Amino acid sequence: MNPTLDADLIAEVLAGLTQTPKRLSPRWLYDRLGSELFEAITELPEYYLTRTEGQIFEDHLGDMAEEIGPGAVIVEYGAGALVKTRALLDGLESPAAYVPIDVSGPFLKDAAKSLSEAFPGLIVAPIVADFTGEIDLSGLPGAAEKRVGFFPGSTIGNLTNDEILTFLSRARKSLGPEGRFLLGADMKKDPRILQNAYDDRQGVTAKFILNGLAHLNTALGTTFDLDAFRYEAVWNEAASRMELYLVAERATQVSLANHAFSMPKGERILMEISRKFELSQLSELAATSNWKVERVWQDQKGYFSLILFS
Ligand code: TRP
Repeated sequence: MNPTLDADLIAEVLAGLTQTPKRLSPRWLYDRLGSELFEAITELPEYYLTRTEGQIFEDHLGDMAEEIGPGAVIVEYGAGALVKTRALLDGLESPAAYVPIDVSGPFLKDAAKSLSEAFPGLIVAPIVADFTGEIDLSGLPGAAEKRVGFFPGSTIGNLTNDEILTFLSRARKSLGPEGRFLLGADMKKDPRILQNAYDDRQGVTAKFILNGLAHLNTALGTTFDLDAFRYEAVWNEAASRMELYLVAERATQVSLANHAFSMPKGERILMEISRKFELSQLSELAATSNWKVERVWQDQKGYFSLILFS
């Protein structure tokens, strides 16, 4: 591993463990096993998000394609399982290019290959980068006015307000004055539905979140005692978000790079947030970052929204 990068990561983890409540970056959730567990989450009966978003695509694809028009250049921020990407590209009239942006080079290579095969004639031009950073899109193939940023899966809900504003403003700049942006966002709803979605009966989500500590132990050499922690999903009404914690079931210690932390029984580590939005709030975030809501598509229950910004 790159030693400077490692030092940065260690400093970040140490800072997180010093905060109250303790907080770790969601990036630790996604090692190989984590990505598999996340895939399993998207298929759980309680986890309505993926299914609902897919349904909106199915029901409104014609309308979306008409709105987006021919020759689109789709820029996807963080390339996921590609199911939604395929659905979108399938529906569009002769899309010109697909530009996935992701930190994982090998993952991008596989994705690019499978999409090139599925859509002959489509230019696939992956960019290896952290999508939350500054990204140069000046050399992009296709027409600048046909660029559509694509950010499905309510990943926006895993970001804070500041992070969202930075991200959307940067996207606005790099996609250009005629660029547009298709966003998937999970809506506020009955907390019982949310609770079940993030604390499934089979315990897959618990495994997914606990694996974050296992990943940290392997990647950075932290000494988390995995048996000492239990998963807890909490609805925070005031912040309109699910908070996904690991709770120490007994007093436990963890060390990293000559620093030791004692956690009393009951102390929690915040591993992830998943915000639930109202449309007014999303319009406001859009306006603050220089976008304007052009269209909104929802499922019948209004659980999830696909929003087109221009
Ligand atoms: N963005 C999705 C959500 O908030 C997926 C996701 C991110 C997720 N981190 C998660 C789902 C942790 C379950 C647990 O739901």
